[in-house]
Amino acid sequence: MKVLATPLSLFLLLCFAIGSEALPAISARQENDVGITVPQLIVEIGTDTFVDNTVTAELTIQNPSDVEITIDHITASAGLDGVIYASIDQSFSSFVIPAASSASSGAIPNIPLVQGLSASLSIVGLNLDIINANVTLRSGTTSGSGGVADTISNYAQAGVTTEWTFIS
Ligand SMILES: *[C@@H]1O[C@H](CO)[C@@H](O)[C@H](O)[C@H]1NC(C)=O
Repeated sequence: MKVLATPLSLFLLLCFAIGSEALPAISARQENDVGITVPQLIVEIGTDTFVDNTVTAELTIQNPSDVEITIDHITASAGLDGVIYASIDQSFSSFVIPAASSASSGAIPNIPLVQGLSASLSIVGLNLDIINANVTLRSGTTSGSGGVADTISNYAQAGVTTEWTFIS
């Protein structure tokens, strides 16, 4: 105890504590020059959920920029407390978000519950975290055409407002 109380030991402990917090951020640097956010996530639990452990989700994305953007592809992991419960890997043919507006992805079906159904029941009703997402998009599109290719990588957002619905 006496050894631990020396200033050097405290300094080393502090370095360790800060270092362990900082590591994930360094290995997964976020690039999000468009500044998108996800104001809402809708998760639909249907009869399929109980058959093949999948859910349907719908993402609303906010585009704060002054040009239209078009989202072409999203890979994302969502969950809680660092545990991934669902993985999305989806291409879009027409996910256009006007300047300074938000738009919905539409239904994204067949999203696997990677922890299985019973382990996932504990998160039903809670606001999920986007743990990591990579987005391929085009910036400055005109009704979804043209634009400049851009990517958002390692996007994370804690506590996304999540609406849970049950479809029978
Ligand atoms: C996003 O890309 C990074 C590499 O830049 C990768 O480590 C990460 O797993 C990807 N995220 C998803 C959800 O695929």
